[in-house]
Amino acid sequence: MECLGNMTAPTWGKGVVMDSSVADADRTARVWQGQAGGPERFRLGSEQHKTLFCRMLLDTFNPYKPAVIDWPELDPDARDRLVSLPIWDIAVQTEGKAKLRVATYGETVSDKLLKEAIALNGFEEGRHKDVLANMVRAYGIELAEEPVYIKPRDPEWAFMVTGYSECIDSFFAFGLFDLAKRSGYFPPALVDTFEPVMQEEGRHILFFVNWVAWHKRNMPWWRRPWFALKVLAVWAFLIWERIGIARGLGGAPDADNNFTVTGSKSVGVDISTSEMMDLCLTENDRRLAGYDKRLRRPTVVPRLVRFTRRFMGKPKPVELGSTAHRDLFCQHFKATYQHYEPEKLPWPELDEAALGRLRAVPFWQEVLHTELRAGLIVKQFTETVDDPVLKEAIALQGFEEARHADLIRVMIKRYGIDVQEHALDPLPADIATAFKDFGFGECVDSFLGFGVFKIARQSGFLPESIFAIFDTLMYEETRHIVFFVNWMAYNEAQRGRAAGWRRGLTSLRFYTRALKRLIGTARRGAQVNDGKEFSATQASVFLDGFTFRRFLEDCYAENARRMQEFDRGLLRPSFLPKLADVALSSLRLWSFRRNSA
Ligand SMILES: [Fe+2]
Ligand SMILES: [Fe+2]
Ligand SMILES: [Fe+2]
Ligand SMILES: [Fe+2]
Repeated sequence: MECLGNMTAPTWGKGVVMDSSVADADRTARVWQGQAGGPERFRLGSEQHKTLFCRMLLDTFNPYKPAVIDWPELDPDARDRLVSLPIWDIAVQTEGKAKLRVATYGETVSDKLLKEAIALNGFEEGRHKDVLANMVRAYGIELAEEPVYIKPRDPEWAFMVTGYSECIDSFFAFGLFDLAKRSGYFPPALVDTFEPVMQEEGRHILFFVNWVAWHKRNMPWWRRPWFALKVLAVWAFLIWERIGIARGLGGAPDADNNFTVTGSKSVGVDISTSEMMDLCLTENDRRLAGYDKRLRRPTVVPRLVRFTRRFMGKPKPVELGSTAHRDLFCQHFKATYQHYEPEKLPWPELDEAALGRLRAVPFWQEVLHTELRAGLIVKQFTETVDDPVLKEAIALQGFEEARHADLIRVMIKRYGIDVQEHALDPLPADIATAFKDFGFGECVDSFLGFGVFKIARQSGFLPESIFAIFDTLMYEETRHIVFFVNWMAYNEAQRGRAAGWRRGLTSLRFYTRALKRLIGTARRGAQVNDGKEFSATQASVFLDGFTFRRFLEDCYAENARRMQEFDRGLLRPSFLPKLADVALSSLRLWSFRRNSA
C-alpha cells in the first residue's frame, strides 16, 4: 500500500505537467464512444449515423480559449527557427478561409443537429486562426496583410474543398508535428499548446468524411451522379492546385501551400520520404483510434500513401541495441502516455443484472494481485537501472501498473465486488529476472486478454461504457509489451547478444516459464472457485458459440489490430502471434480435410 501511496502524477509524455483539467479535456477530445447499447452496425446515411458523427464532434469539444494561452518563453534559437518557417501567412489565411467556408455551408443546412455540429466546426476553424495569430504576435512574427475573405458562391463546393484539403493536410501535418516533437525542434511547451489544434483537425476530417457518406445518401437520386462528379472535381482541383504550386507556377505568395507535404526538411530532421510516410500513417491511425469504431475513417490519402509506399522499399531498420533504437522505443512510450485519474473516469451506473455479471467474474482477485505485484516489481527494477533514458521510461511503466491496481480498486469499491486485498509475497532477490519474467508474462496475458476482451465486448456482457474504460487499460498493456520486447532486444544487444537465433532462444525459455505459470494459476483458480464458480448462466452470456478456434482467431486479429497503431520501426511481440498463426492454419486444414472427406 505505502509503495503506491506516495506516487505522484508524472510529468512524462507531455513535456510539462498537465493540470488535470487540461489533461481531462485532452482525453475527452480523443476518446469517444457513441451511446451504449446502440447497434453494432447501422446503415450509412441513416439517422443513427448522423447522430453518431455529429455527437462525436460536439461531445469532444475542447473549451480552451486562445486569449488565455500562456505562450512559453523561447530561447533565441527556438524563436528564430519558429520565425523562419515559411508557413505562418498561409496557415492564418487557410484557417480564416476555412472558417468562412464552413460557416457559410452551415447556414444552408436545415437539420438542427447537423447545423449545430457544422457551426462548431466553423467556430473551431476561427479559433485556430486566433491561436495562430496570437502566437505569431507573441513571438514578433510579421504577417502579410490578410486578404478579404470572400463568401463562396457555392457553399457546398467550398465546404468540400475545405474538407478534402484538410484530409490531405492533416494527414501530413500529423506526421510532421510528431517529428517536430521528437526532434525537439519545438520546445515541449509549445508542442502542448498546439496539440489540441492537431486533434481538432483529426476530428474535423473524421466528421467530414462521415458527412460526405451521409449527405450523398440523403439527396434525391438525380442529384447523386452530379455530386459524385463534384467530389471528383474537388480532388482534381486540389491536385492541380498542389502540383501547380509544387512546380512554382502558383507564384511566390502561395509557395508554402505544400508545406505539410514537403516540410520535414524545414523542421531540421533528416528523414527519408518512406520513413516520413510511415510516420504519417502511424500518427493518422493513432489520432483517429480513440473514436467510435462505427464511424467511417478518411481513407483516400492513407490508401494512396500506402500504395506509393509499396514501391519505395523498406526504411532502413534501426539497429537493435543502438542509441537510436533506445530513443525510439523510450520516446514512443512516453509520447503515448495518457493522463487520467481512476476515480474520475466515467464509471457508469449499472443495473442489477449487469452488477451481478460484473461481480460474478471470477478473476478480479487475480487481476488486482497481478497489477499490485507488477507495480512493485517494475518500481524496484527501476532503481537498478542506470541509463537515465531507460530509467525514466521504466519508471513511467511502474507508475502505470500502480495506476492499474488503483483502477481495479476503484471498480471493486464502486460496484461492491467481493475481493480481499492480501499482502504480497516478498519479491525475488533477482529483480532483473523478475522483471523479465513479468514482461514475458504480460506478453502472454495480453495476447489472450485481447481475445477475451473482444468476445466479452461483442457479447455485451457489460455495458459498453465499462469496456471503454478497460480499453484504455488494454492500450496501456499493449504499450507495455511493445516497450518490453524492445527493451529486451536492446538489453541483449548491449551484451553482445543481438543475433536473432539467440534472442529467439532466450524468448522461448521465458515464454515457456510464463506459460507454465499461467497453467499453474488456472489450476489454482479452478480449485479456489470450485463450487462457487462463474455460474453456468453467467458464463453462457460470454461463452455462447464459443469455440477454441474462434477465440484464437480473435486473439490473433485483435493483436494485429492493436499493434498496427505502433511505430513501424519498433519490434513487436511475435512469439504467440506466430504460434497462433500455425495453430490456426492447421485447424483450417483439418476442418477442410474433414469437410471434404
Ligand atoms: Fe483548422
Ligand atoms: Fe479543420
Ligand atoms: Fe497492468
Ligand atoms: Fe503492464
